[in-house]
Amino acid sequence: MSLEPSKQNVVRVTLIRGDGIGPEITTAVQEILDAAGVPIEWDEQPAGLECLQRYGTPLPPQTLESILRNRVALKGPTTTPIGIGHKSINVTIRKALDLFANVRPARSLPGIRTRFENVDLIVLRENIEDTYGGIEYWQTPDVVQQLRIMTRPGSDIFLRFAFELARKQGRRRITCVHKANIHKMSDGLFRERFYAIASEYPELQADDILIDNLCMQLVVRPESFDVLVLPNLFGDIVSDLCAGLVGGLGVAPGGNLGHGRAVFEAVHGSAPDIAGKGIANPTALLLSAVQMLHFLSLHRHAQRIEEALRLTLASGIRTRDLHGNASTREFTRAIISNLQPLDFTEEAYLPPASAIAPQPITTESSPAWELCGIDVFVHSPKGIPKLPECLGKLRLQMISNRGTKVYPGATPPIVLVDWYRCRYLSESVLNDNDILEALSQLTSAGIVWMHVEKLHHVNGTALYSKAQGEE
Ligand code: NAI
Repeated sequence: MSLEPSKQNVVRVTLIRGDGIGPEITTAVQEILDAAGVPIEWDEQPAGLECLQRYGTPLPPQTLESILRNRVALKGPTTTPIGIGHKSINVTIRKALDLFANVRPARSLPGIRTRFENVDLIVLRENIEDTYGGIEYWQTPDVVQQLRIMTRPGSDIFLRFAFELARKQGRRRITCVHKANIHKMSDGLFRERFYAIASEYPELQADDILIDNLCMQLVVRPESFDVLVLPNLFGDIVSDLCAGLVGGLGVAPGGNLGHGRAVFEAVHGSAPDIAGKGIANPTALLLSAVQMLHFLSLHRHAQRIEEALRLTLASGIRTRDLHGNASTREFTRAIISNLQPLDFTEEAYLPPASAIAPQPITTESSPAWELCGIDVFVHSPKGIPKLPECLGKLRLQMISNRGTKVYPGATPPIVLVDWYRCRYLSESVLNDNDILEALSQLTSAGIVWMHVEKLHHVNGTALYSKAQGEE
C-alpha cells in the first residue's frame, strides 16, 4: 500500500458524542486527532438519552446506517435507564453490527500511582452471547428466569479472533476464564472450543482458570497474565477490575470488533456526577481512538498520539480522577503540545480486512439425539405439587426447587419458592406427540405449567443437567 498523500486517504469515521461527559471527551479527542493531522473526516450521528428526548429513539436508524457505511465509529458513553424502558444502546449496536469481540487493553501508564507498575493485559470479552441475549421471563410472581446462551459457532468466531489477535500482537500466553466446574455445559463448551482452537496456535501458551481464582490472582499479581478470553458477563466484570489495576475507569479504553467493522469506546459510562464540570478525563476515549487508528492501520499516528499522552501523564499533568488538578481542556492542550514533530510522510489508511459476513460454520456432525423426557416447570404456590406418577410413557423421576431435589425422599431444609422443575423420563424414545399428550394430561389434572424443556440423550449420555441430590 502506497504512503502517498491523497484525498482518498481521508477516512470517514462515525462520531457519536453520547450523554453526560460524552460531548466533553469526544471534543477533546477530536481536537487531539485533528492537531496530530490524522486523516479523518467525522460523520457525526446522534445516540443516547438526549437523542431519545429529541428524536423519540435512543438509536436512530441513520446512526446504525452511518456505522455500516463507514465501518468504523468512535463513540462517547451513553446513558442507559435501569430496570424498564429501552434496551442498552451499546448492546443494541454490538448486536446489530455483530461486533462479537470486545477488546479492552489494561496497561500501566506513567505518572499514575497504582499498586502495580507493569501491568500489560488484554481482556477479550465475547460480546454477543451469554446472558446478554436479554432473554428473561417472569415465571411466577416470585421467580424470574434468564436464559444464558452459549453457542459453538459464536464461541469459535470469537475465540479464533482472540488467538489471531494474540498472535499478531506477539503475545506469549492466552488464558481462558470460565466457571465450568459449575456451568458444566455452557462454560464447558466455551473451554472445549478454546482448547480445540488453541491447537492451531502452538506458539501461544494456552491455559485456563476459574473466574473466582482469576479475580484473586489479578489483584495479587496481575503481571503474571497476558491475554484473557472470557464469556460476555465475566468479561464485563473482569475488564472493569483490570481498569482498576491501571488507574481506574478514566484510563480504560475499549473496542467492539466484528468482521470488517468496529466501534471504539471507553469502558466507562456517561459519569453524570461530573458532567458539564469540565473535569472529565479524556484518556480512556483517547486510548480507544488510538486502538481505532491501529485498526485502520494508521499505526504511526497511533504511536505518536499515545506517546504524547504518556509524556503528558509522566510530566504530572493529570485530571482530578487521577489526583491531579488539570481540567479537561488543560489536559487536552498539554497532550497537543507534547505531540512530537511528524517524522513520517502521510500514512495511508487501510480499510478493515473485510465487511463480508463470515462463512457459515458447519455444526459438527453429531450422533442422533434421542428424546427421552421432559422437564416441566410448574407454578405451585402451596408447596411441592402433587403430580401424576405416569403420563403415558413418561414416569415422574424427581422434582427440584431452585436446583435442589425435593422429591422423592425427604424434603431438605431449604426455602421453597413457588416454581418447581418436574422431571419425567421414558425408557423408550419419545416423539412430540407424546410430549403434547403428557402436557394435556397435566393440564387436565389442574397443574399450572409455565414452560417445558425437552430432555435428550446421545449415546447414553444425558444432554441436560442433574439437580442437586439427584442420582
Ligand atoms: P460511570 O462509568 O459513568 O461512572 C463511574 C464513576 O467513574 C463516576 O464517579 C464517574 O465520575 C467516574 N468516571 C467515569 N468516567 C470518568 C472519566 N472519563 N473521567 C473522570 N471520572 C470518570 O458509571 P455509572 O455511573 O455506573 O454509569 C452512568 C451511566 O453510564 C449509566 O446510565 C450507565 O448505563 C452508562 N454506561 C454507559 C457505558 C457506555 O456507553 N459505554 C458504559 C458504562 C455505563
